[in-house]
Amino acid sequence: MVWSSESIPRQEGRIAFISGANSGLGFDTAKALLEKGATVILGCRSLEKAEQAKLKLLNETNCRNIEVSKIDLSDLKEVDEAINLLNIKYKKLDLLINNAGVMAPPRTSSKQGFELQFAVNHLSHMALTLKLLPLLVEQPGTRVVTVTSGAQYMGTINWDDLQGEQKYDRWASYSQSKLANVMFALELNYKLRRSNLGIASLSAHPGLARTNLQRTSVKANGSWQEAAAYRLMDPIFQSSQMGSLPQLFAATGTNAKGGEQYGPRFNFRGYPKLCRIAPLALKAEQRERLWAVSEKLIGDVVDISQGKALLSKK
Ligand SMILES: NC(=O)c1ccc[n+]([C@@H]2O[C@H](COP(=O)([O-])OP(=O)(O)OC[C@H]3O[C@@H](n4cnc5c(N)ncnc54)[C@H](OP(=O)(O)O)[C@@H]3O)[C@@H](O)[C@H]2O)c1
Repeated sequence: MVWSSESIPRQEGRIAFISGANSGLGFDTAKALLEKGATVILGCRSLEKAEQAKLKLLNETNCRNIEVSKIDLSDLKEVDEAINLLNIKYKKLDLLINNAGVMAPPRTSSKQGFELQFAVNHLSHMALTLKLLPLLVEQPGTRVVTVTSGAQYMGTINWDDLQGEQKYDRWASYSQSKLANVMFALELNYKLRRSNLGIASLSAHPGLARTNLQRTSVKANGSWQEAAAYRLMDPIFQSSQMGSLPQLFAATGTNAKGGEQYGPRFNFRGYPKLCRIAPLALKAEQRERLWAVSEKLIGDVVDISQGKALLSKK
């Protein structure tokens, strides 16, 4: 039997935060969780888009337990401030879905001067998770799901030029950030278990899904070749709703466990199944190195001291 959004267990009483929830996979993840009774906080960089998504979700699901949080992941300071507000408003969080992403733009810097994909896809999600940890630990059975991509298998961490300052290749930087997502998810799971915190960290990838991701990339690069390639590839893309199933399975599947990764059955498309993690992400010393470098970059802007203290508990 296939696992679809119908298979999600009831979620009443559970609160989920989803980054990038106004569009694509984030929107469909929010919709599926709402339909099963969860309260969902839509984390979006534009309040206007967040309110539009909320209205659409209200119309499509008739569920009222939808909240919005303005969070631009290209600015660690804003991430810090957004989480301060969440910490005041909520007593606990059951699900964190690190979903937002940007793919292969021309070289751009985040507010703090980091390469945009490394900052949005990896650093800010790590900051979000570490700073939300006090809310997450309040609830046993909590899960953190970090959304990666099949690009993880092509990714390497360019230790000599992490930010693409000497030479920028937009696809290599995307793959690096998506490999970093898996390395983070695995290392987090290891640290959570070591500290006995009762939270599971998993990763998921959607295969190829029709969302705004490709359109945004084509627009940012003005590349007609890329637009033509996506048109040719369209038959192998699946819907955004199908693409959201692996992250929904990782977040709610009764058999899903910390440290695992879920993706589509046939790599690019299909119902979710347990899938192989990029071999580079399995190297503990590489994960520890990335964690230490990232923690230093984040820690200069975001107060992650409480999260760090929780993770170093033995
Ligand atoms: N679609 C695929 O085939 C595919 C394949 C592999 C992996 N993925 C991964 O899936 C995740 C979701 O992407 P999607 O396919 O659903 O694409 P999408 O429709 O473009 O959604 C991306 C979301 O991320 C948000 N975002 C971008 N930059 C942000 C920032 N600085 N701060 C906060 N939010 C920001 C976008 O907000 P705006 O609407 O304001 O831009 C949007 O809500 C990404 O992590 C992506 O890498 C997708």
